Amino acid sequence: MPLRVDYDLAGVRLTLADLAQRPPTLWRYREVLPLPVEEAVTLAEGFTPLLEVAPNVWVKDESRNPTGSFKARGMAAAVSMAKRLGARALCAPSAGNAAGALAAYGARAGLPVTVAMPEDTPRSFFEECRLYGATVHAVPGTITDAGRFLREHGPKGAFDVSTLREPYRIEGKKTMGYELVEQMQGEVPDVVLYPTGGGTGLIGMRKAFHEMATLGWIAAGRMPRFVSVQAAGCAPVVRGFTTGAARTEPWVDAETRAYGLRVPAPLGGFLCLRAIRESRGTAIAVAEDAMQRATAELAAMSGIDVCPEGGAAWAALAQLRATGMVRNGERVVVFNTGTGLKYR
Ligand SMILES: Cc1ncc(COP(=O)(O)O)c(C=O)c1O
Repeated sequence: MPLRVDYDLAGVRLTLADLAQRPPTLWRYREVLPLPVEEAVTLAEGFTPLLEVAPNVWVKDESRNPTGSFKARGMAAAVSMAKRLGARALCAPSAGNAAGALAAYGARAGLPVTVAMPEDTPRSFFEECRLYGATVHAVPGTITDAGRFLREHGPKGAFDVSTLREPYRIEGKKTMGYELVEQMQGEVPDVVLYPTGGGTGLIGMRKAFHEMATLGWIAAGRMPRFVSVQAAGCAPVVRGFTTGAARTEPWVDAETRAYGLRVPAPLGGFLCLRAIRESRGTAIAVAEDAMQRATAELAAMSGIDVCPEGGAAWAALAQLRATGMVRNGERVVVFNTGTGLKYR
C-alpha cells in the first residue's frame, strides 16, 4: 500500500504574496515539503513556465527541468530524503525519464544508483544514465519486468525509490499543482490534461489541491477536472474509469512509443481513479498516429520541445473538444511532461 506524507498545516501561514521573492524552484514551497532547500539535493528543479499557446490554453512545459522531465521534481525530493535518512545506494525501474533523473540526483548526492529499463527504451535514456555514473540494466518486457528484475537481481541494500514505494516522489511532483495556482494568480484552471503512466503526477496534484484549500489559497473542494491521458496500446486507467472499477487491472501486451505511458500495472491505479472521479474529470486513450500528429502540431505551432506523452495530451484535448467535454472558454492546462529529444 502506498505511503503518504501529511503535514500539520493548521500552523502554517503561507500566502501567495509570501512567495514573490523566493527563488524560482519548487523549493519555494518549503512549508509543504519534507525538508528545506538548504538540506536538499537539488539541481534547481521546478517552477517551469506556463506558456499560453492559444486563447485559454496553456502548456505547462516540464521539459525545462533538469534531465528534461517532470521526474526531476520527484527524484529531488526522494533522493534528498533517502540521503537524509541514511540510504547508502539507490535503485529504481523506469520507463526512461525517471532513470535519468535518479541517476543525476544520485550523482548530485554522491550515492551509487542502479536502474533497470525495458530493453527497447531509446538509447539516449541509457546513455544519459551512464553519463551520470549509474549502473544500467536493459530488461526484456515493460517497467513491471524491470521492477521484478531489480527485486531479484538488484544490488542488496540499495533503497528502492520506485513509484509509490516511498512517499517523497509524490511530494516533489505535487509542486506542479502549487505552481499552476501561483502562476494563474490564485485561479484554478477548469481542466488539466495529464499523460498518465504510474500516475504520480495526478496523485501529487490532487494532494496539492487539498493542501492549498487547507492553506486557504483556494476554496475547499476546488480543483480542476483532471483528465488522465493514456496511449491506446496501454490504457489501464482509462479502462478502469470507463468500467466503473475501483482498481486498475494489468494491461496485457502493452505497447506505445510514449514510453512513459507504458505502465501496464500502476501501483497507484486506484488513486488515479479517485483523483479523476473526485474532480469530475475523465480518462481518455489516444491512438499512436493521433499522438504523433499532435506532437508535431503542438511543437510547430508553439516552439515547445514536445515529447510523445505531451503530444498524447494535446491530441486528447482535440478529442474532448470534439465531444463537448471541454467547452470553448474553459481554461485548460496541457502538460508537456518532458523533452522530445531523447526519443529520437
Ligand atoms: C515524459 C513522461 N510523461 C509522463 C509519464 C507518466 O508519469 P506518471 O508516472 O506520473 O503517470 C512519464 C513516466 O515515465 C514520462 O516519462
